[in-house]
Amino acid sequence: MIYSRLPLLYITKSAIPTLLGGGIVFVGYEIASGSEEFHKKALSVARDYIDGETGHRYAVLMAKYGIMPLWGDNKKEYDTLKTTVFGREFKNPVGLSAGFDKNGEAIPALRKSGFGFIEIGSVTPRPQPGNPKPRVFRLDNDEAVINRYGFNSQGVVPVSFRVKDSFDPLNPVPLGVNLGKNKDTVVAEGDYEIGVHQFGQFCDYLVVNVSSPNTPNLRDLQEKENLEKLLLTTKKTIELEKQLSGKQPLLMLKISPDLYDDSKHDIAQIVTNKKYGVDGLIISNTTVSRPFSTGNRDEVGGLSGRPLKQLSTQVIRDMYDLTKGKIPIIGVGGISSGEDAYEKIRAGASLVQLYTAIVYQGFPVIGRVKRELDVCLRKDGFKNVSEAVGFDHKK
Ligand SMILES: Cc1cc2nc3c(=O)[nH]c(=O)nc-3n(C[C@H](O)[C@H](O)[C@H](O)COP(=O)(O)O)c2cc1C
Repeated sequence: MIYSRLPLLYITKSAIPTLLGGGIVFVGYEIASGSEEFHKKALSVARDYIDGETGHRYAVLMAKYGIMPLWGDNKKEYDTLKTTVFGREFKNPVGLSAGFDKNGEAIPALRKSGFGFIEIGSVTPRPQPGNPKPRVFRLDNDEAVINRYGFNSQGVVPVSFRVKDSFDPLNPVPLGVNLGKNKDTVVAEGDYEIGVHQFGQFCDYLVVNVSSPNTPNLRDLQEKENLEKLLLTTKKTIELEKQLSGKQPLLMLKISPDLYDDSKHDIAQIVTNKKYGVDGLIISNTTVSRPFSTGNRDEVGGLSGRPLKQLSTQVIRDMYDLTKGKIPIIGVGGISSGEDAYEKIRAGASLVQLYTAIVYQGFPVIGRVKRELDVCLRKDGFKNVSEAVGFDHKK
């Protein structure tokens, strides 16, 4: 009996290299072609074996080494999606939001990934480890994530070297650098000044991030007096930097979705006042509320992904109203399809960003959002994105 099985064993053994080789070619092809189904299924299997933070690390490494869709919908661009915001051209309005590439390790590959713009960070002046692990939790049923990284950052020095080296004239995809503060810094303005000096001349925009929920007291910087002081200092530093280098990045303010109405009013007044030099709003960061979420909902931290979608869209709507559409908004929170992006654009966003959808759909989500957004726009008779910005308010 045993002997009669030996030939089969031999065939099976000799087939292993062929099967392995075939498997590698198959997986390589599916990744390179950006197959949406393959990525979703592979990620759902991987999530059973890999914790949230390790998965994030692998994703950054894959991006860094260009293990991403090389052709297919990610690479397609659409006339409807070309847009000019802040006087700058974007090949499409779909960007990568902060937190994915915190240390700017994958900028060249991300510029080629199909995004219309990318944002790295948050970067703190000095390196810091962030909160103890575990600190990233996936909520698979909700396609959401709760994170309490707490600004783990390599600090401005190594990140600014990477940013300086990253400019690619063949892929001039706009780059934003999101600035955070060190946990133990008492006078916050100084930390943002350092960020401006380090990155100001090498990026297209800087983000004053006062909305991450995982750094104690950071969100207090959204209060009127604190914010006015912080923005005035940042603006002065940008002007000084311009005198020195001749270059001036745009200044964005990233806000929380958990603001009270009073704070929204105050912020609207501040950002529409030229004195503070704010060019755009990024709405929103993660939420400390727990709308609809299940699974790890009791973990402390900021919730992102699908359950954040309505909340962030509502804040976009409110801020567009309060600012009378005078200040461009980058809408972010729970975008995982073209329809989601379209909703935020009609609510008032000129550009959009995403992050958590990559956890569940991989990089092909970029191609999907662009393709579906083009369909949504054409279906409603818009010639381009800018015609649809804030359209809900005009009805
Ligand atoms: C794991 C993780 C880390 C993040 N880190 C940052 C960060 O360092 N700075 C920041 O401004 N936003 C950070 N964000 C928030 C995102 O940029 C984005 O505002 C938020 O996740 C909502 O978008 P999404 O639902 O598409 O993920 C992080 C989000 C996640 C999921």
